[in-house]
Amino acid sequence: MSLTRHFLTDLDLSPAEQSKVLDLAAAMKADKYGFTPYAGPQTVAVFFDKTSTRTRVSFHAGIAELGGSPLIINSTDSQLGHKETIADSAQVLARMVSTIVWRTYAQSGLEEMAANSTVPVINALSDDYHPCQLLADLLTVREHKGKTAGLTMVYLGDSANNMANSYLLAGVTAGMHVRIAGPEGYLPSAEIIAAAQIRAEETGGSVVITTDAAQALEDADVVVTDTWVSMGQEDEKVARQKLFVDYAVDAEAMKLAKDDAIVLHCLPAYRGYEISAEVLDGPQSVVFDEAENRVHAQKAIMTWLMVASGLAQDPRVE
Ligand code: CP
Ligand code: NVA
Repeated sequence: MSLTRHFLTDLDLSPAEQSKVLDLAAAMKADKYGFTPYAGPQTVAVFFDKTSTRTRVSFHAGIAELGGSPLIINSTDSQLGHKETIADSAQVLARMVSTIVWRTYAQSGLEEMAANSTVPVINALSDDYHPCQLLADLLTVREHKGKTAGLTMVYLGDSANNMANSYLLAGVTAGMHVRIAGPEGYLPSAEIIAAAQIRAEETGGSVVITTDAAQALEDADVVVTDTWVSMGQEDEKVARQKLFVDYAVDAEAMKLAKDDAIVLHCLPAYRGYEISAEVLDGPQSVVFDEAENRVHAQKAIMTWLMVASGLAQDPRVE
């Protein structure tokens, strides 16, 4: 059995492991941690089947800062996922690179890649999860609130998408009380809710799924949202921009949260739809800290996976 560790969903890190990765990210951000697991330089392959600004640039910068050589590949330039099995691609890539990072559609593709790879595979966003974003978000919450456990985090909007799933799973892993509010038919699946509830029992967090945005927002410490039109849903744009109007994060909504609540958005944002310009550009918004934290969080998860997989040694990372 392979000992290789992968990061495909937010549940792939136990609560203790997630906390260690966030500690490592904070140390790396403070520049107290100069370990370079990809020194050589070793190559890290980063594949994109969907467009990206933050993920592309933060992985490139982070891999370089870890002493490695980033190889960024767009799907149209490779055979991955179309001209050979993902299993074949995985076995080839694992002989050439030290980590595989992939932004794609189906979670099953990432699972096939990981099952056939002897080097760590990292989900850089799929239709179902965006776990790297959540590490950055939790680091941002820690920075602004001093902790995660016990805080109430409220997600409004398209609650059936990758960000809603990741907020729910990563949030309860961090011991948070996570409330997800969206319209009927656009809420997390029963399977995701059940998994979140099991994790919440372990950490003291909790899960609320509701169609009532106002009720969800009551006394929130952290308010989050995401686009109503995810990549791949562009044909549904007009309908989706009407569907979620009662779940917008605007000044009215923010009155229901705590006065010192912070606002996160993974970006890119559509001002005037899921979030008003007033809130996104206002004093409670920490979205640019959150964006910067992608670099630090991803450096930490890459380092942690390399050490946990026995592919790099460093006594400071267990
Ligand atoms: N938040 C995020 O993943 O942004 P990009 O799509 O620009 O990578
Ligand atoms: N839900 C969005 C997130 C973008 C970072 C999407 O999948 O397009």
